Amino acid sequence: MNDPLLRWRDEFPILADTTYLVNHSLGAMPRRVYDRLREYADMWATRGIRSWAEGWWDSPVTVGDLVGRILGAAPGTVVMHQNVSVIQALVASCFDYTGPRNRIVYTSMNFPTVMYVWEAQRRHGAEIVVVPSRDGVGVETEDLLAAIDERTLLVPISHVLFQTGYRQDLEAVVAKAHEVGAMVMADCYQSTGTVPFDVTALDLDMACGGSVKWLCGGPGAGYLYVRPDVRERLEPAITGWMAHAAPFAFETGPQRYAHDATRMLHGSPAVPALYAARSGYEIVGEVGVEAIRAKSVRQTTQLLERALERGYGTRSPLDPEKRGGTITIQVEHAPAVVKALAERDILCDCRPDVGLRVSPHFYTSDDELLGFLDALDEIVASGAWKAHAAKTAAY
Ligand SMILES: Cc1ncc(COP(=O)(O)O)c(C=O)c1O
Repeated sequence: MNDPLLRWRDEFPILADTTYLVNHSLGAMPRRVYDRLREYADMWATRGIRSWAEGWWDSPVTVGDLVGRILGAAPGTVVMHQNVSVIQALVASCFDYTGPRNRIVYTSMNFPTVMYVWEAQRRHGAEIVVVPSRDGVGVETEDLLAAIDERTLLVPISHVLFQTGYRQDLEAVVAKAHEVGAMVMADCYQSTGTVPFDVTALDLDMACGGSVKWLCGGPGAGYLYVRPDVRERLEPAITGWMAHAAPFAFETGPQRYAHDATRMLHGSPAVPALYAARSGYEIVGEVGVEAIRAKSVRQTTQLLERALERGYGTRSPLDPEKRGGTITIQVEHAPAVVKALAERDILCDCRPDVGLRVSPHFYTSDDELLGFLDALDEIVASGAWKAHAAKTAAY
C-alpha cells in the first residue's frame, strides 16, 4: 500500500538494518542529531561563555516551546528538565501536606518512578491512595473517579499506561478533580508524539513526560507544562537561581520566585541533551501527531489481530480507542524471546505479567510487522529462545 510516512525512513539510520519496534522505550535517533550535537560543540568551542547569552540560558524555555506545540500548550508554559522523576519531585516539593487536603490519588498501574516520589511524601504528611486494576489491563475510570474527593490534592496519573498501552480518560478525571477542587498532573510520556491531545483543551493543571520514546529526542530532556494560573500559586522547595525573579542580581536570602515559566526551574540546564532532543520534536511536529496516530491505529490493530489469530494472547485493550501506540503479546519466556528477536535485528522488549511490548512508529513498514510475527513464530516453534533463557533483558 502507498504509505507516505515511509519517506521518513532515511532520516533514521538504525532502520537500514533493524526492525525497530521498541518506540515505547527508546525512539530511533534522527540522522540530524549528529548535526545538532556538532552545533552544540561548535558553539562551546567558538563562542565560549557567550553561548549562555546566545541561547543556552533560555534553552529550557525555547526548547519547551517546541514540545509545547505538540502538547497544545501556549508559548512560555513548558520548561525542560532532565526527566519525569525530577519533575514529580519538584512538583511534590510545592505542597504542604499537614492540612486536610493531603491526598495524592493515582492508580496501581502508574509508572513506578512516579509512585516512588509520591510515596516518599508520606514523611511530610501526604496520604497516598492507590486505585487498583480489576483486570491487569487498565484501571476503570469509575474506580479512579470514586477515589477523588474533597481531600484530594493532586492526581498524578499516566495518560497511557506503560505496561499495556491502556489509555486513561483524562477528560473525565480532570472534570471530577476540578469539581472537588483537586489538581491533575498527567504523565504523558507514553502518549506525546503518538496520541493527539491538547493540554489546554483538557484544562490540565500540569503535564509532563520525556523525550526518550515517541518523540525520538533521546535521554535527558523531560518537559513540564503548568497552567499559568496554577504556576503562580506554586512555590517549589526544589528550586534554584534559574527560578529567581532576578537571577543575575545574586540576591541572598530566600527565593524570590519568577512570575513566568522559569519559576519551575532550578539550576543550570542540561544543554547538550536539549540540542539532541530538538530534532525529534521538529520531525514529529512536521509529520503531525494526527497522521502518526492514524497509522499507529491501523498497524497496531492489524498486528494485534494477526497475533491473536496465530494463538498468542494479549494484555492490551482490543479497542484501539482505549490504547496508545503499544500492544502487548503474551509469550512464555518473554525475556529470552526478546533476546532471540534481537539476534535477528528485531527490537522489542517485555515487562512482567504482560509479555512482549511491541510498538511500530510512523517509520515502520507493514512488511516489518509481518517479518516480526514470522520470526516470533519461528523462535517459539524451534525453541531458539532457550539459548537465551539464562539471561534476562533489563530494557
Ligand atoms: C509513563 C512513564 N513515565 C515515566 C517514565 C520514566 O521516567 P524518567 O523520565 O524519570 O526516567 C517512563 C519510562 O519508561 C514512562 O513510561
